Amino acid sequence: MTAHPGALPASLSARTRAVLVAHDVSKEYPGAGRVVDGVSLQVFAGELLAIVGPSGSGKSTLLHCLSGLERPTSGSVQIGGTRLEELGRSALARLRRERVGFVFQSYNLISSLTAWDNVALPARLARRRVRDEDVDRALAHVGLSSRARARPAALSGGQQQRVAVARALAVDRDLVFADEPTGALDSAAGAQVLSLLRSAAGANRAVVMVTHDLQAAATADRVLVLRDGAIHRELLAPTPTAVLQAVTAGGGGR
Ligand SMILES: Nc1ncnc2c1ncn2[C@@H]1O[C@H](COP(=O)(O)OP(=O)(O)OP(=O)(O)O)[C@@H](O)[C@H]1O
Ligand SMILES: [Mg+2]
Repeated sequence: MTAHPGALPASLSARTRAVLVAHDVSKEYPGAGRVVDGVSLQVFAGELLAIVGPSGSGKSTLLHCLSGLERPTSGSVQIGGTRLEELGRSALARLRRERVGFVFQSYNLISSLTAWDNVALPARLARRRVRDEDVDRALAHVGLSSRARARPAALSGGQQQRVAVARALAVDRDLVFADEPTGALDSAAGAQVLSLLRSAAGANRAVVMVTHDLQAAATADRVLVLRDGAIHRELLAPTPTAVLQAVTAGGGGR
């Protein structure tokens, strides 16, 4: 099943609001050309949206543009009604700190801080009161209570990835972006992280997840297939077979 990107998934209520609206977003890099090419999409409160596509198709770059980590070359991104392109550097950083959680493909943990302090850091930077029990709970949810005092260098790749997930979910956010959040995990830990992301996509929140795992993508409310920086297909109520077909199907268009 395909539809126009931004159509409301049947699983969501008609009253659901868009927390993110992107219009005709492109990103060019010197030497690499246009790696994101005219992407328009909406992300709705309460949904888990998966983005899949071949390596190099622009998934991480798109996530960085949607979350305000990078400025698109052209196009517009609104988060909660605020147009990111109208914000100066510090206002954009503030909006990111206060409203957006991000799980990086490369984890981006601070090596000098313990797992516990890494999880507490975004709230501290946003000058929010961070309760010890929120940090403890976030670490417990990813199964890492016993490693709370370890620094990243003493953690396995999968453990570092789980700290990065705990960090993004420890405080309430309108929007959580997760770039390959299960890439370093075995199937049990991966399933645990997926279920955390699913429950994070609660009432007023939305989760946008890039994944190469088509089974994981099929647990989302909606899947966007990216190819050469553009949305190639959109699947509502995806199944693993439908995602596989959409990823492997040739030809352009939706
Ligand atoms: N800072 C940059 N400068 C120049 N080119 C870049 C930069 N970042 C990404 N690219 C290029 O943009 C393209 C898309 O990269 P991107 O990381 O978004 O892909 P991806 O879909 O996330 O891939 P993967 O699945 O391997 O993570 C690639 O060709 C990459 O080399
Ligand atoms: Mg990537």
